[in-house]
Formats: sequence, C-alpha cells, structure tokens
Amino acid sequence: MTRKAPTYDRLAAVYDRAMRPLERWLVARLRARAFAELGEGARLVEVGAGTGANFSHYPRGAQGACVELSAEMLKVARAKARPGGFALVEARAEALPFADATFDAAVATLVFCSVESPQTSFAELKRVVRAGGRVVLVEHVRPPGALGYVFDALSLLTAWLLDDHFNRRTAEEARRAGLRVVRVDSHALGIVQLIVCEV
Ligand SMILES: C[S@@+](CC[C@H](N)C(=O)[O-])C[C@H]1O[C@@H](n2cnc3c(N)ncnc32)[C@H](O)[C@@H]1O
Repeated sequence: MTRKAPTYDRLAAVYDRAMRPLERWLVARLRARAFAELGEGARLVEVGAGTGANFSHYPRGAQGACVELSAEMLKVARAKARPGGFALVEARAEALPFADATFDAAVATLVFCSVESPQTSFAELKRVVRAGGRVVLVEHVRPPGALGYVFDALSLLTAWLLDDHFNRRTAEEARRAGLRVVRVDSHALGIVQLIVCEV
C-alpha cells in the first residue's frame, strides 16, 4: 500500500500533457459517455479523481466527493474549476471515508488498473453507493485472444514501474465483488472498456 501515492505524486506535473493524445484519440469521448450513464440522483463520488480530468463532465446541481490518494494529483485538481458541491478528499478506494449508501452513483476512469485491491475497492463502492445506484468505469483491461498474453507480459513491467496493471479483468472483478454488470462496451481491440454496473 505504500508505493501508490509516490508514483502518482511523481507523475502529477506531466499527467495532463502526457494524456493529451489519448484524450483526443478516445478517452475524452469515453469520459463523456461514462457520465451520461450515471443514472438518477445528484450525489456522486469519483474515485481516483487524479488531476480532475472529469470535472467538466460533472452533472449540474450534483454534489459529492472526489477521492484521490496522491496529494500531488490533488494539488493539480484543486487548481481546476469544479462544481461547488464537491469536496476533494485524500483517501484510498480501498477505505472510503463515507457512511453506507451516501451516494447515488460512483465513477472511476483509468483507476482500477492501479488500485492495490480491486476486490476491496469494489466492495467499498458497493457499500457507499445506495442499492440500485450505478458504478460506471472507463478502464484499460486485459484484451481477449493472443493480445491478452502480450498484456500479461507488459504488465510485469508497468506494474513494477508505474503500479499500472495492464492485464486486469475489471468487469469480472466487479461481478465477483457482487456488482451487477449491466453493460460492457469494448473499444480499441478490447483494450479499453466502458463498464456500467449496478449495486
Ligand atoms: C491513471 S490515473 C487516472 C486519473 C483520472 N481518473 C483520469 O481519468 O485522468 C490513476 C489515478 O488513480 C489514483 N489511484 C491509484 N490507486 C488508488 C487508490 N487505491 N485509491 C484512490 N486513488 C487511487 C492515482 O493516484 C491516480 O491519480
């Protein structure tokens, strides 16, 4: 549990610039689609909010919390405009500092590749989102077929260097944690997925 924050603390200053080509290619579009899937209700939690790349998509009138474990990523996020009802909270997805059923929905983008424990993180989202509420993710995952083995190999390096696992089966993890996976849309040879779940 000790390496995560330093990794993203180190990347915080360059993160937005490094992401720009990926945003233009696909990610920005998927962010917008993820927020369109959140369903009813105004109380939202974002986990692994990073530098605040999703702030411009937050629904009008919504309130809630943006959880992030890296103090340096939060520092960049703090400088960006966000809806007034959202608090920035330094915490881990595996131990969310909220009461049960605090939120109507949760969102995470490009986070479950790097959380220490997908199972504990999903259990926490299941706990803090009300019954029937949605958990919507955009994640890069282990692709199907032979490419999956390439990503298994790649992951050895990226997990070691960046705490980023290139071979997570995130939709399966969500299902195993007891969330109902409503839809999985695959993009880019199955490397990137929009995953819509219900509690
Ligand atoms: C690839 S970045 C994505 C940031 C942002 N969600 C986005 O879409 O640009 C991954 C983020 O997840 C955060 N993170 C990693 N593990 C976490 C955990 N266990 N709890 C909370 N945040 C975590 C990292 O600090 C980093 O800011």
